Parts: sequence; C-alpha cells; structure tokens
Amino acid sequence: MTKPISLPGERRHFLDLGDLAPGEIRHILDGARRIKARRRAPLASDRILAGRSIAMIFEQPSLRTRLSFDMAIRELGGESVMVTGKEIELGERESIADTARVLSRYVDGIMIRILDHRQLIELARHATVPVLNGLTKTSHPCQVMADLLTFEERKGAISGRTVSWVGDSNNVLRSWIEASARLGFTIRVATPEELQPRPELVEWARANKADLQLMRDPQAAVAGTDCVIADAWVSMGDKDGARRHNLLKPYQVNAALMAAAGPQAIFMHCLPAKRGEEVTDEVLDGPQSVVFDEAENRLHAQKAILAWAYGQTIA
Ligand code: CP
Ligand code: NVA
Repeated sequence: MTKPISLPGERRHFLDLGDLAPGEIRHILDGARRIKARRRAPLASDRILAGRSIAMIFEQPSLRTRLSFDMAIRELGGESVMVTGKEIELGERESIADTARVLSRYVDGIMIRILDHRQLIELARHATVPVLNGLTKTSHPCQVMADLLTFEERKGAISGRTVSWVGDSNNVLRSWIEASARLGFTIRVATPEELQPRPELVEWARANKADLQLMRDPQAAVAGTDCVIADAWVSMGDKDGARRHNLLKPYQVNAALMAAAGPQAIFMHCLPAKRGEEVTDEVLDGPQSVVFDEAENRLHAQKAILAWAYGQTIA
C-alpha cells in the first residue's frame, strides 16, 4: 500500500480503498444511494461536474467501466474524452510523469485503466487533478464500491457480516480485502495454494485488523455466508491460462456450491463472466445472483466517487 498522495484544496485521488477512512467509504455509499434514488429526477445541485472535463484512458478493454463512467460524468453535467493507451503510446512515447503534467493542463480529472499499478501511482504523483483507478492488475476499487452498495441494498449493513471469495486471488479480491479492513466484515477466501493472496497483502490485512480467513475448501468457505463472490479465472494480463484452468476447476461456483452456502447467500461477479468456467449459467441467471445490479451500481457508485474526488457532497 502506498502512502496517500495529496492534491491541493478539497480534491482527492481515488486509487485504493485502503487509502480511505471508513467514514469516507460510508460517505460515498450514502451519496451513491441518494443519487441512485433520484436518477430520473435529479436535483440542480447534482450537476457537480458542470464545467469540468474528465479524460478516460484505457490501456485494456472495458464495457462497464467505460460506459458507466461516461454516463456518470454526463449525468453530473461534465464532459468526458476517451483515449486508448495505444493511441497515446502510454508510458512509451514519453514518461508517465510528463503525460500526467500535460493532461493536468487540459482536463479536470483522469480516469485510467492500466495494468501496472506503479504507473497509476506515478500518474497520480505528477497529476495536479484527481486520478481515479479504473482497474489495475493490483486492484479494482470502483468495482468494490459498487459491490458494497449492492450488498447493502440486498442484505443491509455489511459491517459484521461475512463474504466468501472463491477462485483466483486477483485485483477485485484485493479491493474486497481492503474494504473488509475498513468496514469491519469477515472475508473468507478459498483459493488453491498456488494462487493464494500475496504475503504483503495478507500482512497489510493483518496490520489493518481485517478478518481475512484463508482457506482451501470452497464448500467450507461458503457455508452460511452472506455472499459468494467469483471472478474470471484468467484476468487481463495473465499469461498462464491453461495452468489456472487446471488449478481452479474445483473452484467453480455451481448449484451445488450455492446449496452449500445456503439460500440466504447472494451471488456476486463483477463481469465479464466466462459462463461454464468460474460460474455456471444456473447460478449466474439464478435467484441468488445480483450481478446485473452490480453492473448498474457502477454508475451510481462512480457518481459518488467523482463527487468525493472534488470535495462535493451529494445531499
Ligand atoms: N467489471 C468491469 O470492470 O467490467 P469492464 O472490464 O467491462 O469495465
Ligand atoms: N479480474 C478481472 C476483472 C475484470 C473487470 C480482470 O482483471 O480481468
């Protein structure tokens, strides 16, 4: 975890959930709930990005992040401009620091999807406008803000509850672990030994008093849980697809695993899903699944994240 990078005034970068205080995460979730409830009849004061432009840079493909940020920016009265990492040869044509300095002269914020987390931090360090993490190989905090919103809509306050992650230790899991430390809920993680969370993340979780329970057996990890979470077995940038498939086969979320969890459990997946691999159709399309609520909630959560990044409150 890097030391939070500050900006002048009320503005803030949104890089990782571990950088936020519990009250800040709560503040964002409350704002998201309020602005979601009045999406079709927004208040004049909701146009918190009026006169502001945000650059969106994608080094990797995206459906949800791209569209939900674009719509969030428009609905808050701002403008967005999209470029791909390829077009600007990000990190190749010039240093990330110079890209940050130039972008800060053109736009009021930068939302970026970039695999190398160190490059995200480098960008934030040299930008004079808020930088928002739209996924790195290390974390996906916007996704988990939407997931926290979704959990609480279905199950009530998450503090003191239990969520169960089944599969690979990836970027989404890291943001979940950071959220669990900040909001005080239990996270059980069932992975094969070869794909367990990295020691520095486990150490961070322990130091930050997260109730992180590392397990091997998916059935034990989901028993009685409030929420079962899966994600792709092969994430963007992974090069060992065949090995992962072999290791993760016993970690498929299917009807038998949801039965082991119990009827109280909801099922989450950030999407895109590989149907028939990490999750079966019967679970993804079944009554416990909330995956499309998660996708919708990206829009509402990101509006509240943008408001927070500019020191604004969604009243
Ligand atoms: N969940 C998510 O971030 O989806 P995209 O990769 O489509 O943006
Ligand atoms: N873990 C996945 C999430 C995609 C939104 C990946 O990084 O590819």
